[in-house]
Amino acid sequence: MDRILIRGGRSLRGTVAISGAKNATLPALAASLLTDEPLLLTHVPHLRDVTTMLELLGQHGASITVDEQLGVEIACTRISNTTAPYDLVRTMRASILVMGPLVARCGDARISLPGGCAIGSRPVNLHLAGLEAMGAEIQLTSGYIHVKAKRLHGARIVFDLVTVTGTENLMMAAALADGRTILENAACEPEVTDLALCLNNMGARIHGAGTSTITIDGVERLHGTHHDILPDRIETATFLIAAAMTHGDITLTHTSPYLLESPIAKLRQTGMIINEQEESLHTCPKSEGRLRAINIQTCPYPGFPTDLQAQMMALISIADGSGAVTETIFENRFMHVSELQRLGADISLQGNTALIRGVPHLHGAPVMATDLRASASLVLAGLAAEGETLISRVYHIDRGYERIEEKLMALGADIQRLS
Ligand code: EPZ
Repeated sequence: MDRILIRGGRSLRGTVAISGAKNATLPALAASLLTDEPLLLTHVPHLRDVTTMLELLGQHGASITVDEQLGVEIACTRISNTTAPYDLVRTMRASILVMGPLVARCGDARISLPGGCAIGSRPVNLHLAGLEAMGAEIQLTSGYIHVKAKRLHGARIVFDLVTVTGTENLMMAAALADGRTILENAACEPEVTDLALCLNNMGARIHGAGTSTITIDGVERLHGTHHDILPDRIETATFLIAAAMTHGDITLTHTSPYLLESPIAKLRQTGMIINEQEESLHTCPKSEGRLRAINIQTCPYPGFPTDLQAQMMALISIADGSGAVTETIFENRFMHVSELQRLGADISLQGNTALIRGVPHLHGAPVMATDLRASASLVLAGLAAEGETLISRVYHIDRGYERIEEKLMALGADIQRLS
């Protein structure tokens, strides 16, 4: 298994191009199941999760071509198989996103129950409740969800809590349903808005994406289109934090400050200097002293994203003062704490809050990645730590960050992948 070796203490300098968003790419790939015409996606990141989703679509009968600019064209001319098997679903929970499109297009879907993951139990009850409200029959047998519906009909669905892929799944299902569907307490994440844009360009009639009430008027069929995936706001903020932790001076291109207003505001609270352009960001070291420790609490968009919680904790661990990090979305998203403590961070846990006392320096050590964003926080800590940090199980990080060690190396980090 690959490991990443980092010799810390180098300030990052230069320019990094941000990739397309993983969490916009996965639902857009699933949307290809809704039409028998080709869907062309560009600005697709080259990630393990993307490869897994393409493999899953291939099992459903999709033909996939990748062009020299890494544009991905998916043609689901006909769907030969409506089962999403355990061996694929267990490696990527977002496989659940094929459920809505398969039921809408074929009237049938057999999806392995995703099961939990390192950060929580991750139920899908809200996805299923929505499909039931739209007329689907659902059976859970031998670890599989079997969903059947002659034709889904519109419904008014109120989510008990905000669910990103739940919103996306039901938006896709409703696009071909008979009548109007209204999603209340829907997720407002930019990735939801990007999916709605893609679906509307395919002929869907969706209004209100980006707000907590989304209205979908079903149509008979959808057609192909070309959709450009929006930039990855989590990768953008991760690189901003990497610069902050190494007193770096970097420019981030192919991204948009409007996607991460809350993270930018919180980072500025630490004293970070962040300059915004239309499609790029620049950060440089503050004139003197350490960054200030701050408090953060994760919440649904437009609040502070849970996918940045671990990275922010790494920054606070070397800031001046004390800060509190409260995780409200997932029940077990502090797996990085014990690893950061191995690097010398002073963190104590009280329920869903981590209390961090900033230390002047971290010290390199062998650590283990446990989930995607926890891995990113360990890379950030290693960049700032004195000495060598060896991170094992880096397959987690490959799921969500495109060539992270190459991008960091190009910015001057002393980082290498050991196979
Ligand atoms: C999406 O996961 C993202 N994944 C996650 O990013 C992200 O952390 C999460 O949204 C929150 O922003 C993708 O978009 C592929 P949720 P999702 O449904 O949709 C509970 C990353 O690092 N819930 O919004 O699975 C759930 O347990 C990944 O890129 C139910 O109870 O998350 C959680 O506590 C990690 N029942 C909360 O809602 C349901 O039916 C929010 O989960 C669905 C969700």
